[in-house]
Amino acid sequence: MQQTLNFDIDDFLKNYWQCKPLLIRQAIDPDLLQISQEELFDFAAQEWVESRIVSSQDQQDWTLHRGPFEPDDYERLATKDWTLLVQAVDQFIPEANQLKKMFDFVPSWRLDDIMVSLAKTGAGVGPHFDQYDVFLIQGCGQRRWQIGPVGDSNSALLENCELSILKNMQVDHQWDLSPGDILYLPPGITHNGTALTDDCMTISVGFRAPAHSEILDDYFGRLSARIDQSLRYTDPAIQMQKNPHAVTVDAVSKLKTIVGQYANNETLLSQWLGEFMTEPKYPEHFPEQPTPSWEVMQDIINTATCFQLHPGARAAVDDKYLFINGESWARQELNSELIDFVLNHTIAEASQFNKWLENDAGRQLAIDLISRNCLLYEESQ
Ligand code: SIN
Ligand code: CO
Repeated sequence: MQQTLNFDIDDFLKNYWQCKPLLIRQAIDPDLLQISQEELFDFAAQEWVESRIVSSQDQQDWTLHRGPFEPDDYERLATKDWTLLVQAVDQFIPEANQLKKMFDFVPSWRLDDIMVSLAKTGAGVGPHFDQYDVFLIQGCGQRRWQIGPVGDSNSALLENCELSILKNMQVDHQWDLSPGDILYLPPGITHNGTALTDDCMTISVGFRAPAHSEILDDYFGRLSARIDQSLRYTDPAIQMQKNPHAVTVDAVSKLKTIVGQYANNETLLSQWLGEFMTEPKYPEHFPEQPTPSWEVMQDIINTATCFQLHPGARAAVDDKYLFINGESWARQELNSELIDFVLNHTIAEASQFNKWLENDAGRQLAIDLISRNCLLYEESQ
């Protein structure tokens, strides 16, 4: 079975990624996109799943409803056009999780989640633009996509509407997508999708890119929590100023040295990027557990059949650290197979897992992961 995307990745990265939209016909085997409607309705009924419905009437009265949803909710909307959107399906639908691996030509920590939409004929979420790159994969049925120019904060939006829907959208291109077709959109491109069939299912592989404001806020925020408070602005050999109120070039240059030593420190920046980009999408899925002792951990290994990283846990690595859910562990002492197990979300048998915990660093990682609800295990009957 095809496990890769059927298009020229090098050409895509060079000419389209972050630059311009691309329609790719039959980019993926539609058999790999078998997500059932029932499965989606079941997940949309769960409290721990983020789901929304966008309803409208003749492209007006756009309303956002937040899940969870029961069968009655769909009945109440029967006379309207509605689209059900279920977020982060990669965490609970294995087929969607497999799909994610096909996009690893972009760093895995850039991928946000996989969202699935199910829409009735004529329904859509309205003309809009997103701040992130997205691959819109047609999973089932047909959808018409219209795309236009890049939108920005000056684009006029509908008033009194909870959704950011464009008042007017210029249509530059229009395509009808069938199962297996993919439309890639870089950030900002205005788009409008309309279901052409009642079984219209679209799978969005969305990426995330932190805003500069978030980068600065979080990088310096995390650093400042770690920096010794005794490190201060200093001005030895100060010259008497003509104007005692003036902020001088000399003072600014001292400040540049202080800020620069953090802003230009590649080790700190790399650690920050790994930690920040592995922050979980739903931190509430990771409640702290009591920290197990090594003896308790040993008991868990003896009674478990297999281990797996929590499907919602995010992991990355740099030269020095293994990053999991916004924290870092020095990787030097860690068994490389244990690192692969974490990064690739593979399943390990208990006996195999035990072998990777040969030293203190491995044991500590296993204990930390259990106490953060990051490591799942199946117990033998
Ligand atoms: C949808 O699947 O209906 C919406 C996806 C999007 O426009 O980003
Ligand atoms: Co969109």
